[in-house]
Parts: sequence; structure tokens; C-alpha cells
Amino acid sequence: MTGRLEGAAALVTGASSGNGRAIARRFAEEGAAVTVADIREDPRLGGDPTHELVEAAGGDAQFVECDVSDPDDIRAAVDATIDAYGSLDVMVNNAGVERQLPIGDVTEEDYAWLMDINLKGVYFGSQAAIDVMREQSEGGAIINMSSIAGIRGLENSSLYCTSKGGVTNLTRELAVEQGPHGIRVNALNPGFIETAMTVEDGDTADGILSQTPLGRAGQPEEVADAALFLASEESSFVTGHNLVMDGGFTA
Ligand SMILES: NC(=O)c1ccc[n+]([C@@H]2O[C@H](COP(=O)([O-])OP(=O)(O)OC[C@H]3O[C@@H](n4cnc5c(N)ncnc54)[C@H](O)[C@@H]3O)[C@@H](O)[C@H]2O)c1
Repeated sequence: MTGRLEGAAALVTGASSGNGRAIARRFAEEGAAVTVADIREDPRLGGDPTHELVEAAGGDAQFVECDVSDPDDIRAAVDATIDAYGSLDVMVNNAGVERQLPIGDVTEEDYAWLMDINLKGVYFGSQAAIDVMREQSEGGAIINMSSIAGIRGLENSSLYCTSKGGVTNLTRELAVEQGPHGIRVNALNPGFIETAMTVEDGDTADGILSQTPLGRAGQPEEVADAALFLASEESSFVTGHNLVMDGGFTA
């Protein structure tokens, strides 16, 4: 049986930990060669680096150090993907951070730090991918990591919600702009997922969990399954979509 991404080359930012790590591993299981682009190689919650796990399972992956807030770094990671695998078929702009503060306590430094990673990183990651994908006869698929915070408000999360709202609508705009060039652009909107971001960085987790009809946190592997759908031919007529996986929180 051939994998659902056989022969594809994918770049996943923030893929050393959490959701990005699960996406990179899932894509590799389905036959994709994967560039793991992150500011750190070691996973935030421990374990072997993502590219080593992929290779140990018989897959193809490389680690590239990349700070998504620097467009030059993202372009270098795209170039490294082309050099190693010959194309860029799937770009996952996943890297992101959270800082929960009431708006009155937010400084310009907080704002610049979070927006540079969560919104500027996705914006210029998309631009770098589009430049390459437009030259490819088969186009490509871009998947941007938004959140339930991209479609509703969350307590003390003005920075995060602003950035993810931008990702949500950037995704729609790019789908309109790039559809004629064979590039599909979709977003993932997870609810509470058990990663270092929620386990170590977050403080509104209990509020979200208590309002989640399925009554539990999601797992990164469940985000990865949704990403696989958006990356594969099974979603060939899907673009501009924000796909929610939140256990019913926003239902
Ligand atoms: N965990 C959740 O509940 C949840 C829900 C909705 C959306 N998300 C989104 O999923 C994405 C991944 O989050 P996660 O929960 O896996 O978090 P995580 O902290 O477990 O993993 C994030 C990864 O991104 C990397 N990273 C951080 N800054 C970076 C930068 N400047 N350049 C490159 N890499 C960088 C980190 O090193 C880390 O490996 C984020 O965009 C986040 O907003 C998470």
C-alpha cells in the first residue's frame, strides 16, 4: 500500500515539539520526506528529536534550525527542503507561542515578540512557500496553524487571539489569491491540545476543558490526522477552510 503523501516533500515549522512534531511524524508515516524547522532540536517535553524518530521508523527527515520570525531563516529552510528533496509540496506554518496577560499589562515588547512568531512567521512562511509552489506544475498545499483563538475570544489572550485571528483570515485571503495557481491554503483550529504550550505555558486550560463536550484534552496526533487530510489529495477541492478540532468547545 502506498502512503497518502508518497513522494511529497513537506516543511513543518515548530516541528520539534507538540503539534508540529506529531504532524511531521504522521506525514513521514504516509511517505513524505520532512524538514523539521525549529529554533531548538530537542522536544520541549523530552524524547528523541523528531527527525531521529522519523529516521528510526524508516522515514526521511532533516532538522533545520529556523526562527520563523526571521523571513531569511524561513527561506533558508525552504531552500534546504528543495536541496534535499527536490520540491516543496506541503508547507505547515505551525510554530507558535502564547503569552496570557490582561491587555493592560501587555507591553510593546510582548506584542512584537508574539506577533513576529505567530503572525509574521505564518505570513512570510506562506510567501516563501508560494514563491516555490508557483513554479511547480503540481502547485502545493499550505496549512497554517490557527486555533479556536482565531475564531473566538479567550480570557487574557488578546495577543494570542489577535495573532490567530490574523492567521484565520490570511488563510482565506491566500486561498482566494493563490487558488488560480494550484495552491490550496487551509488552516487548523485546535482547541485544548495536550502539549508543552498548554501543560507548561497556559493558565486558562481548566476553563476550556470544563466547556469541552467531549470532556477531555485533544492529543497532538488528532491534530496531525486533520493536517494529513488537508495535505493529501483527499482534500483536493478544499481551500480557504478553517478546520476546527476542539472536542465541541466552539459548537
Ligand atoms: N496546544 C494547544 O492547545 C494549541 C491549540 C491551538 C493551537 N495551537 C497552536 O499549535 C502550534 C504548536 O503549538 P504546540 O501546542 O505544539 O506548542 P509547543 O510549545 O509544544 O511547540 C511549539 C514548537 O514551536 C517552536 N518554536 C517556538 N518559537 C519558534 C520560532 N520563533 N521559530 C521556530 N520554531 C519556534 C518551539 O521550539 C516548539 O518546538 C502553535 O501555533 C499553537 O498556537 C496549540
